[in-house]
Amino acid sequence: MSNIKSPGFTCWLTGLSGAGKSTLAVEIVRALEHLSVPCEYLDGDIIRTNLSKGLGFSCEDRKTNIARVGFVSGLLNKHGINTVVALISPYRDAREQLRLNLPNFIEVYVDAPLEVCMERDVKGLYKKAIAGEIPEFTGISSLYEPPLNPDLILKTHKETIAECVEKVLRHLFYRGFITQASMAMATVIKLC
Ligand code: ADX
Repeated sequence: MSNIKSPGFTCWLTGLSGAGKSTLAVEIVRALEHLSVPCEYLDGDIIRTNLSKGLGFSCEDRKTNIARVGFVSGLLNKHGINTVVALISPYRDAREQLRLNLPNFIEVYVDAPLEVCMERDVKGLYKKAIAGEIPEFTGISSLYEPPLNPDLILKTHKETIAECVEKVLRHLFYRGFITQASMAMATVIKLC
């Protein structure tokens, strides 16, 4: 099996709405699956339709959301299933709590400036938030605390998706979660 470490890792993507977390997460999961690294994808938008259904965007609700996803991720990691998580997770203390609770927590800052995210506005939410139609919107009327010491920074306004995925794979290799053979395979099949 390619996954050479147990328990598994949690690759936690934090960043503003529109920074590119979900897009990257999907590609990271795709790459890991190609390499036969067991992996589950936990996405904020999806989690909020089931596990965290009913939670809003107050500070308290967001922290509950983050803690729940962290808990599920920890259960999966315990059984050797790696996770890739895409959640705004705006609060430093909540993310630090994850680092304490999870055996192999990898904090990835998906760092696109607010102006870029507003310009992209893929879901049209920034426009609504600025118009006052969405309260407590991250970056507009609710706080986002960038990580001070993330394990990895991905600048989606400067780096391509392939470059970002490569950085993640290299980090996983460096941390011992991906074998040299898998890295070689990733290069051959042009995953990075
Ligand atoms: S978190 O803050 O609790 O980590 P989460 O990642 O689950 O947030 O959900 C963010 C998604 O919810 C965004 O991508 C966006 O589609 C949607 N959303 C709806 N309302 C808000 C809001 N007030 N702030 C941020 N995102 C919101």
